[in-house]
Amino acid sequence: MLEAAEAVVVKRGSGPARVDLARCLAGVLGVSRLHLLLDYERPLSEDERASYRARFQRLLDGEPLAYVMGRREFFGRSFRVTPDVLIPRPETETLVSAALEALPEAAHVFEPCTGSGCVAITLALERPDLVVTASDVSAPALGVAAENAASLGAEVEWLKGSFWQPVAGRVFGGLVANPPYVDPARPDLFDASLRFEPEAALFSPAGDPTFAYRELLAGGIDGLVIGAPVLFEAGIDTAEPLADLAERHADYGDVTRVLDIAGKCRVLRLRRCAVTG
Ligand SMILES: C[S@@+](CC[C@H](N)C(=O)[O-])C[C@H]1O[C@@H](n2cnc3c(N)ncnc32)[C@H](O)[C@@H]1O
Repeated sequence: MLEAAEAVVVKRGSGPARVDLARCLAGVLGVSRLHLLLDYERPLSEDERASYRARFQRLLDGEPLAYVMGRREFFGRSFRVTPDVLIPRPETETLVSAALEALPEAAHVFEPCTGSGCVAITLALERPDLVVTASDVSAPALGVAAENAASLGAEVEWLKGSFWQPVAGRVFGGLVANPPYVDPARPDLFDASLRFEPEAALFSPAGDPTFAYRELLAGGIDGLVIGAPVLFEAGIDTAEPLADLAERHADYGDVTRVLDIAGKCRVLRLRRCAVTG
C-alpha cells in the first residue's frame, strides 16, 4: 500500500513526503512508525485500505498531514488539531521555552490568541506553579483548546474575546502571545499550504503586520504588573519592526531578541517597565 502510494507521488513528480505517507499509514493502523516497519508484510483489511486511500487523496490535494490525521506533536505532547485552529509550529516551541525561563514563580500568565491551546497547556503542564488564563476570538478554537486541556490534564482558564477585552480590569504577571502576523498584502511571504488554515489565525490587517502586537502592548499598560515579562512570537519579516516598536515604547524595556537553533529571530522578550522622567 505504501509502495503504491509512493509510486503515485513519483509519477506525479510532486506530493507528500515519503515520511508523511508512512506517518499517515501508521496513524490509520494505530501503530508507531517503527511498528509499521517491523510488521511491513501484514495484510490490510478493506476498511484500513479505504481509510488510507481517502487520507492519501487529501495529502495529494495538499492538505497538511496534521489536519488529515487530526493531531500534531508539540513540546513532546500530542495535540488534537482541526481546521478551526492553527497547526502548532516548531518556532512556537522556542516561544514556550523562552516563556518557561522568563516567567516568575507562581505568576498569573495571560495567553491571548490561544488557538489549539498548545502554548497555554504546555506552560501549565511544564510549570505547575503558574496560573494560566488563555483566550481567543474563535469559539470553535476554544472548544479544541479545552478538549486538549482535558485530555492532557492541564488546568487553564479559557475565555472568549478579542485581545485584552475578556480580562478587562485584571492584572497579570506575564504575557505570552503568538498573534496573527502574516500580511495578506505580501503573498510572496507565505506558501500555498496556508490555504487550509483559518484566516483569523494567520492574517493581520493588510499592510499592518504589527497590528496585534500594538493592541497587546497597549492593553498591557493596565493589564501587566511592572516588571512582568512579555514574550511574543513574530514572523521572519515582523520581528525587526516589532523590536523597533517595543524599543520605542515608553512602557516597555529590556527588549531581547531570542534566536532559534538556526540563528533566526522569531521570538522577542521584553518587560513592562515603569515610565521614568
Ligand atoms: C497564530 S494563531 C496562534 C495559535 C496558537 N497560540 C499557536 O501558537 O499555535 C492566532 C490565534 O489568534 C486568534 N485571534 C485572531 N484575532 C484575535 C483577537 N483579536 N483576539 C484574540 N484572538 C485572536 C485566532 O483565532 C488564532 O487562534
